[in-house]
Amino acid sequence: MNKELEDFLNTLCEAERAGGRVLHELTAIAPSPEMHHLLRKAGHDEGYWAGELAAQLRRLGGQPSNRTGDFVEKVRAVGDFRGKLELLNRGQRWVIRKINEQLPSIGEPELAGFLKVMAQGHEVNIAAVEEAMKKLG
Ligand SMILES: [Fe+2]
Repeated sequence: MNKELEDFLNTLCEAERAGGRVLHELTAIAPSPEMHHLLRKAGHDEGYWAGELAAQLRRLGGQPSNRTGDFVEKVRAVGDFRGKLELLNRGQRWVIRKINEQLPSIGEPELAGFLKVMAQGHEVNIAAVEEAMKKLG
């Protein structure tokens, strides 16, 4: 696989790993059982995407990174829970934007299909977190 594609998929992989870590930390301070389970499920999704990205990288002959993105520290630096969720969703939107930017240049149907579903999954989780935020005091 070409280096540009490998770097792109590894950037996403590191971002998803970071998202999973962030969500794990947010789950621990969730103010309600509903929020707890929503974030727990979203965190599992992030771990799933990170694992699938690594599998795609291997399948295409690339080398998966095992690093975690710096997003974890950025969310830790935000003091309040709502602010952390807002930053989380900004990060999730960034992932969708990056995928949509790259999709036209990805000719391989299996990888393109995977990335489309990953972007859709992010839309769903962003909407769910936005909805849950309305119930925060
Ligand atoms: Fe994500």
